[in-house]
Amino acid sequence: MTATQKHFEDNGQGHVFTFFDELSDTEKETLLQQASEIDLNELKGLVETLVNEPGEGNESIADALEPAAFTPLPESEGGNPSLWIEARDKGEAALRAGRVAAFTVAGGQGTRLGYDGPKGTFGVTPVLKKSLFQVFAEKILASSQIFGRPVPWFILTSIINHEETVAFLKENEYFGLHEEKVHFFSQGLMPAVDSGGKILMADKGQIALSPDGHGGALRALVRSGAVRQMEADGIDTISYFQVDNPLVRCLDPAFIGFHLMNESELSSKMVPKAYAEEKVGVFCEKEGTSLVVEYSDLPDRLAQEKDENGALRFRAGSIAIHIFDRNFVNRLGSGDDESAKLPFHLAHKKVPFIDSSGALTEPTEPNAYKFEMFVFDALPFAKNPVIIETNREDDFSPVKNATGIDSAQTSAEDQLRQFCRWAKAAGIEVATDETGLPSFSFEVSPLFGDTPGRFTQSWNALEHKPELTEGLVLV
Ligand code: UTP
Repeated sequence: MTATQKHFEDNGQGHVFTFFDELSDTEKETLLQQASEIDLNELKGLVETLVNEPGEGNESIADALEPAAFTPLPESEGGNPSLWIEARDKGEAALRAGRVAAFTVAGGQGTRLGYDGPKGTFGVTPVLKKSLFQVFAEKILASSQIFGRPVPWFILTSIINHEETVAFLKENEYFGLHEEKVHFFSQGLMPAVDSGGKILMADKGQIALSPDGHGGALRALVRSGAVRQMEADGIDTISYFQVDNPLVRCLDPAFIGFHLMNESELSSKMVPKAYAEEKVGVFCEKEGTSLVVEYSDLPDRLAQEKDENGALRFRAGSIAIHIFDRNFVNRLGSGDDESAKLPFHLAHKKVPFIDSSGALTEPTEPNAYKFEMFVFDALPFAKNPVIIETNREDDFSPVKNATGIDSAQTSAEDQLRQFCRWAKAAGIEVATDETGLPSFSFEVSPLFGDTPGRFTQSWNALEHKPELTEGLVLV
């Protein structure tokens, strides 16, 4: 018996090796490798605290909860236009100085979309169906060209999609970015357990493992050596976004500027919630500490509460766009600081597993518990957290579902609306419906323009101005 087997036996998880003797040498090696990466102590603690004990009720979360303060947009009530100009200038200076990296979390499984492949390879633009990765690469390239410094791009994958992700970017020659500026690294995995806390087996030689959540990005940044590399390259500012949001401004100078001006360890963008029941986390404060409260944890009476102007009181919706200070990532991700650790959350899911006879069961009801960390749980540990308002239509339209809300269709429409707003700002006449949507599809490359100002500049420089019609692509 190997030391790993013994360790599992001693911790009540010996069944993981039930079929060990039937496995080939390579399969044995794989299983031992998977097993050795599981922290059984951590798992035991999680089972005890999350699976065996009922969680904290909504009402205790709600105790002493206040809405978080945020910096309003210049055009919003209380907005300060000169402050935004100062922030933009600071951010541009940081981009010129090469202090900023782009960071995409792409380790998720994208089950709701139901697409066979890494989500970043999914086609999203209205005409060319450019992949999410291409859209981000072009935005990063545009910023690199404008500010004269190539911006490094870090991409978090998981073991499930790592190879395909790397191959896709390579085949497409990194969409114009320098190969050595694109870095891939895999996040950690956690085993799924049954209601008794026993690790589930996907196969006789495979533990049922899944990525440890986007919060796992922080320890992956440290473990992979990405943080060390950033330090060596003079990067102290990490612009974080999710792989499913083609509208995101990957490197937003004003956002970067607010982060730096406030010496923040973690900055976030908010949008006012569209309606009380909208399924987004909300930025709150509790006893002087900022935090994101998930929509499912925000008691309805708070979600519905209005302020004196009739607006939702708890309206600062989180759209998963952040800027991290590199040293903060190191502090949290290294696990050295015992007082600053991201908690795990529990998800009850359907996970296929083999039983003690080796037969595969495909559950029809949730049978398993998975453990995930959330990146926004870093907020309470951050010094000088900054939250700024952004326009939803310029930053957030994720592709989560195959159809309906937050689908490829809604996201393509939101891209079209944005292109039309830019066209109108440049003085081009374009007919749209009351929601700003044109009756035809066209597309603007981020390299043509990724802001109204740069769109106008490129448009004015065109010798022959094309008619905005079906299928037009401005590159
Ligand atoms: P989601 O919460 O939308 O999860 O991830 P998902 O796995 O992509 O999709 P579903 O829920 O299975 O349909 C939000 C972002 O966080 C990343 C995703 O890749 C996406 O960019 N993420 C999520 C990770 O990088 N790792 C994870 O373990 C989970």
